[in-house]
Amino acid sequence: MNLNGKVALVTGSSQGIGQAVVLRLANAGAKVVINYRSHPEGAEDTLAKVEAIGGNCFMAQCPTAQQGYTVKADLGNVDEIRQLIAESIQHFGKLDILVNNAGIEKHAAFWEVTEADYDAVMNVNLKGVFFATQVFVQHLLTTQRSGKIINISSVHEELPFPNFTAYCASKGGMKMLTRNLAIELAPLGITINNVAPGAIETPINTKLLNNPEKLGALLNNIPLGRLGQPNDVAALVTFLASDDADYITGTTVFVDGGLLWNYQEQ
Ligand code: BGC
Repeated sequence: MNLNGKVALVTGSSQGIGQAVVLRLANAGAKVVINYRSHPEGAEDTLAKVEAIGGNCFMAQCPTAQQGYTVKADLGNVDEIRQLIAESIQHFGKLDILVNNAGIEKHAAFWEVTEADYDAVMNVNLKGVFFATQVFVQHLLTTQRSGKIINISSVHEELPFPNFTAYCASKGGMKMLTRNLAIELAPLGITINNVAPGAIETPINTKLLNNPEKLGALLNNIPLGRLGQPNDVAALVTFLASDDADYITGTTVFVDGGLLWNYQEQ
């Protein structure tokens, strides 16, 4: 993939899938804005890894100036989103790629979900994506350029996940946001797609990873027989961010080892 000359913002990139996406995009030559909310040390770690990529960029055409930049912002707060995007543009001069990766989930039986937890999940996972995308599109309109939006969704934009109803609602909403915006943004030369991971080995799954019984049951449900790695997701995001994906919009690609459509009778 060749992303030389492109600038990408990856929300929630101090760890997990977001960090892997940043590294992959940087490896393809893009300049990257690393966003974090509560893990500055994770963002610094991502930045150090970007800097270490050094001479390995696509066909050795690495950006000569600084390639990574960290910005603190809570994606659940629209004012902070506006500041994040403004600061990114101010720092690198423009943005070409937006990866809406930041996401949270809260475990609770439906009848015990608090309003605060519902709001926290919906504000980051759906409202934040809506407004980050809006501000990004306004920037592309003002500068009369095309661009690419990639949302990190989940198998749970389709698949029920008991005790995570707000999370599922946010990802189901993300599915329709992407379908709708694909139509509305196409005349502007802007594409938008969802990448939908299954069970990936990241901090969002810490509890599950530490529970051998639950982990074993989950692995039995994954036809490819393993958890996904952040890089499995990042590879696809990098493709969707490249010119090779110019004709793809409004769709969801699952990266789930076959989990979503697995049905077997024992
Ligand atoms: C969730 C994980 C879950 C996985 C597979 C992801 O969207 O964040 O908690 O393990 O889906 O169910």
